[in-house]
Amino acid sequence: MRYVIFSDVHANIEALNAMLAHASRKRKDAWVFLGDAVGYGAAPNQVVERLRRLRGRVLAVRGNHDRVVLDPSAGIDFFNDHARLAARWTSVVLQPANRRWLAALPSGPIWLEEGVAACHGAPQDEDAYIFTDVDALESLFALPEAWVIFFGHSHVPSMFELRQEGREAHLAFTFLRGGERLELMLSRQRRYLINVGAVGQPRDRDWRPSYGLFDSGSGKLTVYRLVYDAQAARKRIIDAGLPAILGDRLVRGF
Ligand SMILES: [Fe+2]
Repeated sequence: MRYVIFSDVHANIEALNAMLAHASRKRKDAWVFLGDAVGYGAAPNQVVERLRRLRGRVLAVRGNHDRVVLDPSAGIDFFNDHARLAARWTSVVLQPANRRWLAALPSGPIWLEEGVAACHGAPQDEDAYIFTDVDALESLFALPEAWVIFFGHSHVPSMFELRQEGREAHLAFTFLRGGERLELMLSRQRRYLINVGAVGQPRDRDWRPSYGLFDSGSGKLTVYRLVYDAQAARKRIIDAGLPAILGDRLVRGF
């Protein structure tokens, strides 16, 4: 099966449009969205409407921002000031049909097929970040049936690879950054935790939206970086009266 994997759109319609235009030309069996459709950005309705209109099979989980926008008591206290302000603004402007679509998203993890799972933060906790080796091990142990787990939330394109050699287990980290296209071959003899990066708010000092294409049959994973009009997304945030820093970081990439 071939999956288009994408995450963390964060109400950035300019970035989502660029990503969908690119991915629609790829052969695929399903779209896989790892959460955070809204929050931070200024086009929440446009983004959710676009996601609702996706043709074909769509597998999706909610993100922490999606949850908090619908119910501030479900974690807004953990947000910084800018995120909190944007979440409150989003909850006011979000249309009922878009609210319903977000409310129907499961918290995850979900199975794309046997052995391949997807979640927002970590499989054991949608709010947990996977940054370190220990975070990665906890997540791999939480879902032992999976050989590949896709995650989002950190907005950093990255891969942890667990390899067993006799009694020794080795965990390797790969920063999935480089050029417009990065190709990797995954092996079923190993286990992986993979973040293909963020569409709407990259944080790895590269402003370009990122997404992945995974072929579970061959094990081939391709991570793409795309050029889009980040200035337009920034302007939309400023025009909406949201904190300028939320627009500025789209242009900076962190
Ligand atoms: Fe996010």
